[in-house]
Amino acid sequence: MADRARVAVLISGRGSNMAALIYAARREDCPFEIVLVASNNPEARGLELAAAEGIPTFALSHKGLDRAEFDAKIEAEIESARADYIALAGYMRLLSPELVARWRGKILNIHPSLLPKYKGLDTHRRAIEAGDTVSGCSVHLVTEDLDEGDVLGRTEVAILTGDTPERLASRVLIAEHQLYASVLAEYVGRKTDPDWIVAKVGELALALPESHARTSHGAPGWRVGTEKSGKFFAYVSIHHHGEEAIALLVKTSGPDEMAALIEADPDLYYKPAYYGAAGWIALRLDRPDTDWEHVAGWLRKSWSMVAPKKLQAMAEFL
Ligand code: GRF
Repeated sequence: MADRARVAVLISGRGSNMAALIYAARREDCPFEIVLVASNNPEARGLELAAAEGIPTFALSHKGLDRAEFDAKIEAEIESARADYIALAGYMRLLSPELVARWRGKILNIHPSLLPKYKGLDTHRRAIEAGDTVSGCSVHLVTEDLDEGDVLGRTEVAILTGDTPERLASRVLIAEHQLYASVLAEYVGRKTDPDWIVAKVGELALALPESHARTSHGAPGWRVGTEKSGKFFAYVSIHHHGEEAIALLVKTSGPDEMAALIEADPDLYYKPAYYGAAGWIALRLDRPDTDWEHVAGWLRKSWSMVAPKKLQAMAEFL
């Protein structure tokens, strides 16, 4: 299976959502692993549980530090744990805009209401007082504005007659524990899902002049030129010839360039079966940290190696 996405969880208290994520990650087929639990509250109960479960922990009180200073320290821990994603789980501090910008699309939060309703605190009391018959929880991406980012998933929970905020909270919490693990798995897993990968490569490949999609021996491919006489400049190899990886195949100038690439980054590049002999290099696309700008650069380069002369000039403007 592809590398698992590495997730750092930030907590401030009890940590029951954190525990739900830790236990979900115990399943072999879970596409994420928890590599760090960090807290702004050294007394957070979740820290003890995380440590007992063998997860590295980090705690630092935010008192006396300004937001940017404190976040820089937390971020340093997250970086050194080599996390790909940050999951907020009852983390009671706003993140600095700089940190949010650097991790855009990679920070998730769970919130105990059906967003966009009831952002902020005291959600259950507000839902009951408004006479709502359903409440629930939401997992969303974190942006600079509180509880504002794209909602990735929600679960509804009925409000019962006579519910108190505490009773409602305890039922919503059960839903939270299910929802968070499943949304996180889906969100990080889409990056290793062959359909998602092929669609993403297709988007980039078809943005190049006079390109079109064409399968070749069952593999998705893209050609430049006319439908009749076009030439392939990229393929996506999906576990081709029993290979473990999903990879982009693009043209190199030959064996020397291929050898240099593989030597420089053997986790990213390899020589694919059959195509390798013809100068095509494989670049893995099933890692959680695929750099799509880099992939786009390779597609452009490969495109210009096979594009007809009259189109080559256009490449200069890409
Ligand atoms: C949860 O209700 C979560 O939705 C909210 O804070 C609470 C944290 O609980 N953001 P726990 O620490 O995960 O048990």
